[in-house]
Amino acid sequence: MAILVTGGAGYIGSHTCVELLNAGYEVVVVDNLYNSSEESLRRVQEITGKKLKFYELDILDREALDKVFENENIESVIHFAGYKAVGESVSKPLEYYYNNVTGTLVLTDVMRKHGCTSIVFSSSATVYGDPAFVPITEECPVGGVTNPYGRTKFMIEQILKDYYVADQKWNIILLRYFNPIGAHVSGKIGEDPKGIPNNLMPYVSQVAIGKLKTLGVFGNDYDTKDGTGVRDYIHVVDLARGHVKALDKIEEMKKNGADEVKIYNLGTGNGVSVLDLVHAFEKVIGRELPYEIKPRRAGDIATCYADPSKAERELHWKAEYDIDRMCEDSWRWQSANPNGYAE
Ligand code: NAD
Ligand code: UFG
Repeated sequence: MAILVTGGAGYIGSHTCVELLNAGYEVVVVDNLYNSSEESLRRVQEITGKKLKFYELDILDREALDKVFENENIESVIHFAGYKAVGESVSKPLEYYYNNVTGTLVLTDVMRKHGCTSIVFSSSATVYGDPAFVPITEECPVGGVTNPYGRTKFMIEQILKDYYVADQKWNIILLRYFNPIGAHVSGKIGEDPKGIPNNLMPYVSQVAIGKLKTLGVFGNDYDTKDGTGVRDYIHVVDLARGHVKALDKIEEMKKNGADEVKIYNLGTGNGVSVLDLVHAFEKVIGRELPYEIKPRRAGDIATCYADPSKAERELHWKAEYDIDRMCEDSWRWQSANPNGYAE
């Protein structure tokens, strides 16, 4: 029996493949390499000394996906495949709804056809919008999302909940990630954004390596300790391990029957400001990073951090790594691979 990982060549997917292989799972990856490279999967196998199976395909291609389910004995799916750039989603809403929402519809339809009804879905803290309270628990109201990307996550969560209402055979876990950063300790796999990064950590590391000149800090007049935005950064390896724990939970749900769609925040519970992160990174590289204060970025919120205690109670999962370790591992990856996976 194998785990199907959609989007497994990507940033979070590749780290999750490492943890799945280390935990003894058989892994089948499907990915169209739209935002990734097969090299990441070669390195996953190098790190673990284990093999995985890879199918280069688009999850919108029903026939191709169908063949994977015919060839492989898939017991559960971890569904990462999707587009994820908030800004781009505003200018390309159709592409985002089509790829993320229709992609999930095709995937789950093919799963159902083959009697596979267990899925762990990559959702996001973005579903909380500007959160009603912090730390954010899973009960915090969702839906006040300000961009099409976030709305795809919100819609997919709703769709999966509707599946469960119609058919309680579905075992569904929604994982709401906070801000994943960092890289595998080997420095062999990490985040490899195309073009100029939108997110803070890849921007900071590209300034550190000299590819970008100055970091723009988007706003220093928020109601936070130093005026800059506060987020819950989580080490990608901790996040990846959360998926292995989610699969344990799926097993339990299969045995005892699921009583609901399970939802978990995956974060550390610590709020870290933009300047905290910059200073933690400066400590790692032993020099100052050039930055300048810029206007606020449209759509940004002041503060977002998790209450991760439900995941600790029910998944027996807790983030281990702190912000210093996240910066160390991001820097090891960035400095060993200044051009990411490109030669
Ligand atoms: P990523 O872009 O590195 O990985 C996504 C992978 O999916 C890529 O390898 C891409 O090629 C593949 N893909 C996209 N559309 C596909 C399709 N139609 N068919 C097959 N493959 C397809 O992104 P990531 O950071 O690893 O994120 C993984 C998931 O986690 C995404 O669903 C993302 O929305 C979600 N998420 C990410 C973050 C974050 O900050 N990185 C936060 C919350 C949630
Ligand atoms: N920031 C800067 N300069 C930059 C980039 C970011 O100051 O060049 C600031 C932002 O204003 C924000 C913080 O750094 O205060 C974090 O910004 P990111 O873009 O790294 O992350 P976001 O919290 O905006 O969003 C990320 C993902 C979303 C996801 C969300 C919650 O991009 O997809 O985390 O999981 F939904």
